[in-house]
Amino acid sequence: MKNLIAGLIGFVILASSFTGKRSDNNIAVKTSVSFTDTLKKDAETGMIVDKDLYMVKAQCTSCHSSKLIIQNRFTRDGWKQKIRWMQANHNLWDLGETEKQVLDYLEKYYAPTATLARRQPLKDIKWYKLELK
Ligand code: HEC
Repeated sequence: MKNLIAGLIGFVILASSFTGKRSDNNIAVKTSVSFTDTLKKDAETGMIVDKDLYMVKAQCTSCHSSKLIIQNRFTRDGWKQKIRWMQANHNLWDLGETEKQVLDYLEKYYAPTATLARRQPLKDIKWYKLELK
């Protein structure tokens, strides 16, 4: 019985480690149990409470739910690319001076640190263009 339960838990962990979403050239690992799970969450947005949260709320939650942010994990560069993508396609404004503050926050709490994943997220990936004929 014990083994069965351990096996089931193992399977769930294994299965969930395959659900990381690949988008653009960032790896978003959706299942992470890390130090952030023990931190205080903002009641309104569910985002982790921090001195920079007010700025992220101001810049990032007027068009869509904070859930879009919370459910993603990107590197600092990945977050920056998301911001550029929204600026190019969805009328997101220039964040100016506040971009650094927003990125500091996102990098600190919503980075791909998946301690339950089977391996660390890949770094320094060399991407190539797929030639479609
Ligand atoms: C001007 C409106 C607007 C603002 C402000 C905005 N976004 Fe978005 N964002 C969008 C739209 C539109 C989408 C696409 C929603 C969809 O696909 O349903 C999106 C999608 C996203 C996604 C999901 C991307 C994906 O690949 O699925 C993330 C993450 C995100 N936004 C983060 C942010 C962050 C962080 C900020 C603050 C810097 C922000 N957004 C501010 C318009 C905005």
